[in-house]
Amino acid sequence: MSLDYDRILGYTQVMNVLVVGGAGYIGSHVSRELLDRGHKVTVFDNLSTGLRENLFPDAAFIHGDILRYEQLTGALRGNDAVVYLAAFKAAGESMEKPEKYSQNNITGTVNLLNAASEIGLKYIIFSSSAAVYGEPAYLPIDEKHPANPENYYGFTKLEIERFLSWYDRLKGIRYASLRYFNAAGYDVKGRITGLEQNPANLLPVIMETACGMRKELAIFGNDYETPDGTCIRDYIHVSDLAAAHVLALDYVVNNNKSLTVNLGSETGSSVLEVLETARRITGQPIPSRIAGRRPGDPGKLTASAGLARSLLGWKPEYSDLETLIKTSWEAYRKQ
Ligand code: UD1
Repeated sequence: MSLDYDRILGYTQVMNVLVVGGAGYIGSHVSRELLDRGHKVTVFDNLSTGLRENLFPDAAFIHGDILRYEQLTGALRGNDAVVYLAAFKAAGESMEKPEKYSQNNITGTVNLLNAASEIGLKYIIFSSSAAVYGEPAYLPIDEKHPANPENYYGFTKLEIERFLSWYDRLKGIRYASLRYFNAAGYDVKGRITGLEQNPANLLPVIMETACGMRKELAIFGNDYETPDGTCIRDYIHVSDLAAAHVLALDYVVNNNKSLTVNLGSETGSSVLEVLETARRITGQPIPSRIAGRRPGDPGKLTASAGLARSLLGWKPEYSDLETLIKTSWEAYRKQ
């Protein structure tokens, strides 16, 4: 493939993109955004947590597994770029079952990088995490903040970033490593209907409680050094994340250069603020009780996303609490 004319003209041509993990919560939003921008998308997913209903008729689908090298290599052929989102992501579980995270997240990455090298694929957009930073030494967290993950999941994400950096040096594979803060919300146009199964994150747990699928929300600690005592996080709308992936793809292709950036709204919201907003928007009582602190939870985490803004021209549009909760409620109410 030659992208040189487009580079000279300053825009990116339509690309064939393999979205690994494209049937998942974030992957489906990214696939939709790529399709909306005119790219040709093939979703590659083992459907272990991804859902068939998250597949779009205008994207191709391969039911495959990153741990099956031949299958992965076959799927990569004919593509210009990969968006790589297939990973286990429950921080708590990763501390109990590190083997599962090593196998899928680390071995899967080695397979992907070797397969990409074998067929000469040059661009990877990777979903990394704020979990690479660990306990914050200062706030807001920028990309220069030391990376000392507190859980095994965060460790796998950091190791993957290091693999990417070596394959950039040795194989010329350019990558974007996107360190998400707290992904939340649903497609603002309501096109994604697959709900995450057994979620552990705050917003979907609140939504399941609002729907009566759960009895109550356990608030993990109200004795933190924050204004209302509950933890503060930086919630970023999944449609804003999706937009950043497409901009990052343009960036690595047009500049032939890798980058690592935070993706956050740069706003902090406490658990109680999220809960109260959800009660107001859903009109549901959403029972809650104060539970003990969850091990490894820092009191406050907020992002500095200045680098993504300046390098990618990215700006969150939907990451206010109202929109995060309204779009989530729309998705849950439909079910
Ligand atoms: C989440 C992810 C982590 C990811 C990180 C990126 C999980 C479990 N955690 O972290 O993998 O790398 O975003 O920044 O997937 N809370 C409750 N009750 C609940 C659930 C959550 O009070 O039932 C609180 C938590 O204590 C926390 C906040 O809500 O303060 C957000 O929690 P969660 O959605 O799990 O996200 P993080 O732990 O911040």
